[in-house]
Amino acid sequence: MGNILDKFKEVPQEKKEIDASRKLRIGIIGTGWIAEAHVDGYKRMPDVEIVAAADLIPGKAEAFMERMGLGDADIKYYPSHKAMIDDKSLNLDAVSVCTYNCQHAPCTIYALENGINVLLEKPMCVTTEEAVEICRAEKKSGKILSIGFQPRFDENMKMLKRIVESGVLGKIYYIQTGGGRRRGIPTPFGTTFIEKETGGIGALGDIGCYSLDMVLNAIGYPKPLTVTGYKSDFFGKNPESYPGHPEYAEKFGVDDFAAAFIRLEGGVILDFRIAWAMNLDTPGDTILMGTEGGLRIPSTECWNGSIGGPMTIYHEVGGAQVETKIPVMNTNGNVFDMKIRSFLDAIKTGGTAPIPSSQILYNQAIIDGIAKSAELGREVTIEIPEI
Ligand SMILES: NC(=O)c1ccc[n+]([C@@H]2O[C@H](COP(=O)([O-])OP(=O)(O)OC[C@H]3O[C@@H](n4cnc5c(N)ncnc54)[C@H](O)[C@@H]3O)[C@@H](O)[C@H]2O)c1
Repeated sequence: MGNILDKFKEVPQEKKEIDASRKLRIGIIGTGWIAEAHVDGYKRMPDVEIVAAADLIPGKAEAFMERMGLGDADIKYYPSHKAMIDDKSLNLDAVSVCTYNCQHAPCTIYALENGINVLLEKPMCVTTEEAVEICRAEKKSGKILSIGFQPRFDENMKMLKRIVESGVLGKIYYIQTGGGRRRGIPTPFGTTFIEKETGGIGALGDIGCYSLDMVLNAIGYPKPLTVTGYKSDFFGKNPESYPGHPEYAEKFGVDDFAAAFIRLEGGVILDFRIAWAMNLDTPGDTILMGTEGGLRIPSTECWNGSIGGPMTIYHEVGGAQVETKIPVMNTNGNVFDMKIRSFLDAIKTGGTAPIPSSQILYNQAIIDGIAKSAELGREVTIEIPEI
């Protein structure tokens, strides 16, 4: 007889009928690594037509679409996001912003100002100021802006939120989160992640944004108040970190490790650490401590929503201290496709953004607060103006 808990592992997804009578006209801004996942996803959507692609590097967008099997498709090519958005004959419904971090804000704001819906890759941008400008442009436009946190669609992440909302943990007062890799500075396609002018922020934004989203989404995204941050670049600046490319060390202008102590509204403390590289297997599991129970989530590389093992709830039943293990669940389907689908559905129904900027603004403010506090060498107050 199988374990009864196995029944919870597979979660059936409801199959929705998609009205493909009108195809949404999509443009891709930035045709690097992650654009592949966007184009693959859009190709599986019956109500989508990719009509345009832009990249700053001459010929890159054309070669990219050829590689993606769309060389013969009716796609127009542009040398920048601006040239693409300015071509009104395209009648774009939406764009995917797949540029490196430093170009997230200008591309997203320009698209929204021109009445185009935006699916923006994570992290939202680099600074809090940029995030505020993005939110203002979205509000003014009345268009959909969704931010690319595909782990939200993972069943384990949904379960984490349900556990918190069930009240079994009581009032949550302390959270430790983060994760990362022993060695994993992302340079397989060049240096756009590690240069200040393109990446803007390192591990902190690249994978830190996911671990922050995991716990903040579970507890309802309370406002961040203050932060004491630290960041370092010992691995990034070491030529030995790049076999075959020692020159990358000179270009490294971001963080490869960050840690912080953040106070959130409602008396919650967030203790955070994230690494692209470290002399450890993990900087620690994610834990949530509450007045009625505690939760441990074995750590991961924190990008795809997977968890490192079953979650454990530590609580008291009838005066006894007991543990409840929540089996790891398999998500039925591709989380990346789900993020794209949820965005398209929001456009078609006029609904709200599936991963709203109002939440991710707080995520970005924490990231930027950590960077600023680390540079100043003291605690900073997180100021977020009215949108
Ligand atoms: N959701 C995920 O799982 C996931 C995974 C990897 C990367 N990402 C995110 O996706 C983004 C892109 O990552 P990548 O690895 O594809 O980067 P990349 O450097 O490989 O590609 C970015 C491309 O954008 C182009 N570009 C930059 N500014 C532009 C502009 N204004 N107009 C047109 N083209 C422009 C660049 O020339 C480059 O070709 C990053 O922000 C990263 O954090 C998300």
